[in-house]
Amino acid sequence: MLSAVAQEPTEGILTYSMPILYRLHESYEEEKTEDNRMKTSEKAKGGVRIVEMTDQDAETMPLCGHKDPSQGAYQHKFQWLQKRMTEGLKVKMLHTPEDGLAGYIEYVPGQRAWRAVNAKGYMFIHCIYMQKVYKGRGFGTLLIEECAKDARKAGLNGVAVVTRQGTWMVGKELFLKNGFEEVETAPPDFSLLVRKFTTSAPAPSFKGRWDQKRKEFGKGLTIITSGQCPQNLKMVSDITEIAQDRYGIEPRIVEYTSYRQAQNAPWPFAVSGVLYDGKLVADHPIGGTRFQNIMEKELGIKAVKRR
Ligand SMILES: CC(C)(COP(=O)(O)OP(=O)(O)OC[C@H]1O[C@@H](n2cnc3c(N)ncnc32)[C@H](O)[C@@H]1OP(=O)(O)O)[C@@H](O)C(=O)NCCC(=O)NCCS
Repeated sequence: MLSAVAQEPTEGILTYSMPILYRLHESYEEEKTEDNRMKTSEKAKGGVRIVEMTDQDAETMPLCGHKDPSQGAYQHKFQWLQKRMTEGLKVKMLHTPEDGLAGYIEYVPGQRAWRAVNAKGYMFIHCIYMQKVYKGRGFGTLLIEECAKDARKAGLNGVAVVTRQGTWMVGKELFLKNGFEEVETAPPDFSLLVRKFTTSAPAPSFKGRWDQKRKEFGKGLTIITSGQCPQNLKMVSDITEIAQDRYGIEPRIVEYTSYRQAQNAPWPFAVSGVLYDGKLVADHPIGGTRFQNIMEKELGIKAVKRR
């Protein structure tokens, strides 16, 4: 029963028309006075700023490691962001005087989160990362505090995030260090964390019913994709090609084009993964080699064609 997936029309890939800019937005100095959790940000001196990405200005900025706006992966994410910004999503970046943009946080009001969560009433963090050379200086904390400030401004109950211990998502350590608590876990290693401003507010939760939702995808190979993760374009094209050429299989490609669809996903990360015969065999973007290993070593499927 894939009706929830298929109900909303698939949005076409738009052509990239206007690059966007970041707008100088806040300095940590303003934030520092607002919340004494900002102790780590004492290290964040020397002209570091938080800048907000908008779709009105005209200059390029890196997106999840993709720097070239003429590339498909960049456009895929950028066009997704443009639409989501109209739904309240914000992207803020850490700008350093030496290297320019060095860190990224993306968050959205929880009822429109692209994760399989009930997070209405909270600001929800999709992604956060910091360039290696800037790690450990309190800048990740600065980005979280920027999100918390926006959550307060919006009158929300706090901030929520999904983390995992494995690859492809941020871990929970940074959040635990910044006043979050774990409220729920999901297999294999996902956690839902919250920092409440209002202690009596109901906690966010995972959508759950994972096994049941996976079975609803039925037999065969399904690739789940969405614009939220820029690695998805390559994943879809690599896996499709290998599935057809090596195994003689035609994958079903399910693109989530709304937060409602993503929230109904059969695992917390929701926006990028692979199912085979109703089993989730990849819960994050994977490449062709990993796909072949899953097919042959984990599922015992033999190549039917030479490649
Ligand atoms: C998590 C992260 C944003 C922290 O940035 P930062 O600027 O170093 O953060 P701060 O200096 O404010 O805090 C440092 C703390 O972050 C925590 N931390 C380190 N790596 C982490 C990770 N991968 N996940 C979660 N927390 C982490 C540690 O508790 C660290 O404290 P310590 O130095 O005392 O051990 C950065 O380490 C990162 O980008 N990691 C990769 C995240 C990722 O995989 N994102 C997925 C792509 S969307």
